[in-house]
Amino acid sequence: MRQPMVIANWKMNMTLSDSEEFVRRFTAEDVGGGGVEMVICPSFIALSALSLLLKETSLLLGAQNMYWEKAGAFTGEISPLMLREIGVRYVITGHSERRTYFGETDEDVGKKAETAFAMGLVPVICVGENGEERRAGKTKEVIGRQLLTAVQALHEEADWRRLIVAYEPVWAIGTGVPARAEDAAVVAACIRSLLHEKWGEVAAAVRILYGGSVNPDNITEFTARPGIDGALVGNSSLKPASFAAMVNAVSAERRG
Ligand code: 13P
Repeated sequence: MRQPMVIANWKMNMTLSDSEEFVRRFTAEDVGGGGVEMVICPSFIALSALSLLLKETSLLLGAQNMYWEKAGAFTGEISPLMLREIGVRYVITGHSERRTYFGETDEDVGKKAETAFAMGLVPVICVGENGEERRAGKTKEVIGRQLLTAVQALHEEADWRRLIVAYEPVWAIGTGVPARAEDAAVVAACIRSLLHEKWGEVAAAVRILYGGSVNPDNITEFTARPGIDGALVGNSSLKPASFAAMVNAVSAERRG
């Protein structure tokens, strides 16, 4: 059984005090949330303080990025050891904004995923085609290249089972125009089948999320699809009430 999850990717939003306020207000929300894993990915600056605040809650912590070395002369980078020490559990790798603005490659994503597992973190590998690739009918080709390069270095079956893949079509991110749920489900099935070809039955354990203009009103269109196990959410995760509404919606949908 794959546990559904909702991950908040705050991107470069929310100061430390905003982040602390979010947690205080979120814990005051009526979050039934039964069975849904809830993860927030604040800025690096806020991770340490939030890791203390979250101890009293059922929210888990994720980072938005990391470097693939444990330590060394890499000015400005954050090591997986630093993340692990403060209780970070997940790390987003290969987000399209990192690929587009910071030149992250499929190979970089693979190195990050490999190191994340080696250091006891779980990578959330993001894949997704841009608008031009979509119009050219290249979605599956792009997803296949991004995914298979990124998972190439993962050799432990125990890691494969814990992997999370987020399908985030670039054209749907921050636009208010999500993918159609049926199209997202087709891509999710394609991701699982690529992993099945590579890893066999273990692929059934991998959680696959959808991201791109998800909000409280549309989240269950995605999570109601059997192959989609949750959502990676940007804008709509910045408000405690909205994040709580998404968690509650998924929880209710799963309980039927
Ligand atoms: P939006 O939910 O703002 O479209 O962002 C999606 C995303 O990029 C999450 O990683």
